[in-house]
Amino acid sequence: MLLLQLFVIASILATGSSLGCMKKVCGNNAKNEFRRCPDTDGSCGNYHTERSSGEIIDGVDVRCRTGEKVYAPIEGEMYFWRPYGGKREKACADQGVRIEGTGQWQGYAVHISSVQLAFFGGHVEAGKEIGEALNRYCFDDRGQNDVEPHVEVRLYREGKLIDPTHHLQNCMCTGQICESNSRNLLLGDPFKTDKRYNGVRGWDIECQMINDDDEDPRAPLVYSPIAGETVGRIRLFTDANGAYTGCDNDGIFIVGIDEWMGYEARLYNVKVRADIGFGRKRIVQGEPIATRLDCENSPDSVFVEVRFEGRVVNITDIITAANCKAPNFPVF
Ligand SMILES: *[C@@H]1O[C@H](CO)[C@@H](O)[C@H](O)[C@H]1NC(C)=O
Repeated sequence: MLLLQLFVIASILATGSSLGCMKKVCGNNAKNEFRRCPDTDGSCGNYHTERSSGEIIDGVDVRCRTGEKVYAPIEGEMYFWRPYGGKREKACADQGVRIEGTGQWQGYAVHISSVQLAFFGGHVEAGKEIGEALNRYCFDDRGQNDVEPHVEVRLYREGKLIDPTHHLQNCMCTGQICESNSRNLLLGDPFKTDKRYNGVRGWDIECQMINDDDEDPRAPLVYSPIAGETVGRIRLFTDANGAYTGCDNDGIFIVGIDEWMGYEARLYNVKVRADIGFGRKRIVQGEPIATRLDCENSPDSVFVEVRFEGRVVNITDIITAANCKAPNFPVF
């Protein structure tokens, strides 16, 4: 009973992080919408398109009025950064931020300009207010003021510019799956077959026991990779009577809803949350739905298998958060 209560409390407090998905960058622009394309002068703020200056920019222009609040879209270490490299004639817009990612954003960096920062360094959590938007065209007294006001966002991974679009908008990644593995690090190859779990292709997601200070190791929470309905437990092996009560024989089966319509996810080596039990139950993405199994032989991982329209599909990029663009699988 106590365990169940603890679980319910933990469920309320903890949800898995939305790995790969950035938070809101500006004001009330919750969906991180870009400025219109084409804009009044024919330019665009989309990734790798031509700006008013004629330059092709590998960044995006998120709609944002001068003076609106700007937020850190990822967690990391903050640095003051000059988007115009100190050019005197552009001084009024020559302020911005570089956030070097930490935690799940390790290896990434984000540049946002133009922003008047409220402070100039230190650690920021994703979603924290960091300053307010400046007029990017304050040095230009001719046109350009007609284009929709915006801040420019650039995303680097391992030092190279990448497309931030689907990390900002319609971000469809699975999020963190195991409590002790904030980046969904995999054991072995992605999308591998695994004899322990029916030989179906999937992902063996590292999931170590958690050693809090002064306590016995505890089994980490497991978060739902998709929004859906649980259809019940999976029993891999049963005896002649269709029953099995062993420890290392549990899993959960989720049928997708909303943006995950058509998908199914199966998770193995997990112990299903007690109040989910049998029968359908609606769950949100990132909700703790299980703990990792903690039997004598339980591996330090959780195995995930995903189907779309009944077929096993390779969604490695949206599990590892390398790309959060909704895959375009053919519907049969
Ligand atoms: C699965 O997808 C990843 C990423 O797109 C790719 O690198 C890998 O080769 C694919 N694996 C298989 C077995 O198709």
